[in-house]
Amino acid sequence: MSRTSRLSAAALTALLAVLLSLVVAPASSATPPRGGGGHHGAGAEDLLVIGHRGASGYRPEHTLASYELAARMGADYVECDVVSTADHVLVCRHENEISGTTDVADRPEFADRRTTKTVDGVELTGWFTEDFTLAELKTLRAVERLPELREENTLYDGLFAVPTLDEFLELRRDLSRELRRDVGAYIETKHPTYFDGVGLSLEEPLLADLREARLDRRNSPVFLQSFETANLRELDAARVRVPLVQLLSAGGAPADLVAAGDPRTYADLSTAAGLAEIAEYADGVGPEKSQVIPLEADGTLGEPTSFVADAHAVDLLVHPYTFRNENAFLPADLDEGADPAAYGRAIEEQLRFWEAGVDGIFTDNPDTGVVTRDLFLDPALAPAA
Ligand code: G3P
Ligand code: CA
Repeated sequence: MSRTSRLSAAALTALLAVLLSLVVAPASSATPPRGGGGHHGAGAEDLLVIGHRGASGYRPEHTLASYELAARMGADYVECDVVSTADHVLVCRHENEISGTTDVADRPEFADRRTTKTVDGVELTGWFTEDFTLAELKTLRAVERLPELREENTLYDGLFAVPTLDEFLELRRDLSRELRRDVGAYIETKHPTYFDGVGLSLEEPLLADLREARLDRRNSPVFLQSFETANLRELDAARVRVPLVQLLSAGGAPADLVAAGDPRTYADLSTAAGLAEIAEYADGVGPEKSQVIPLEADGTLGEPTSFVADAHAVDLLVHPYTFRNENAFLPADLDEGADPAAYGRAIEEQLRFWEAGVDGIFTDNPDTGVVTRDLFLDPALAPAA
């Protein structure tokens, strides 16, 4: 079914019905992941809504407040990216350079920690998690990454600490009990080759934390993801039982392959042959959304590529990233007005991806993701053609 125009009145009525139903009862709970290639997890027939960095459309990313809101909005899984502190504790940050998401630059006591490093071939100047102990990092406070686009979120600047992976897993456990469903953990190791190089390997503490939380079992509601390949191969070889997801990108190459002099790029990995190779060690792939449905030259949403079919042919789940409600992140034909911070027709975008056959979506707005997933799943709610 094609949805190339605005939602009809009937569709909006249906949408309201979905929203009302969400008030009365939470969205269907996440079941443990299927593990596409059959390597790891046991089964997930559900289409998954993954709270990207929590509910980062509404709260500063990677804070317990963002994670909690994502779960309460109905996200099946909540995403946590992990990096290491100096004392080898995993904390939840999108990158190890933290000036964009904490108030570290305003802390005179840490002024001398500002430095320049090369991470995955990119020179960066700022403050790095591996130069702080956990106790020091805990004195910092999170701030909104995108204050121009998400001005409302700056209301919460300074309120929340940087969480540890342990704290994220404890929150997941507590919310699962309260909400009476499994809230899944979708964990990404950030810059694993870099952290290996500074003696702070991410995989060992990650597996220890999962073991301690009793989330290392075949049916545990956990995905492990990485933009690199070698660490996923190692986790597979180590017989890690939870499903593994190879992240892909529309450009560039995995940092571990670059470091090893391997010329393969993400484009190579994203071909049918590349996906077949990924299926030897992983259960799913996380492509950039343009790899599933590219934009036309004029910025409008195009037609699906063969990516989903190619991935499904080798039994890989497909979880594209990242769906966001603001015009700034939407195809040109789905914008509403000229303000990049205003919401556009995100529901239509997401429906196009569900129709293309994806198995889940990463979204900064989990409530919107739940609505589009439910609209797609219930034919009675489908908008008129
Ligand atoms: O992990 C899926 C998605 O989060 C990848 O993008 O850069 O937000 O980690 P990024
Ligand atoms: Ca991520």
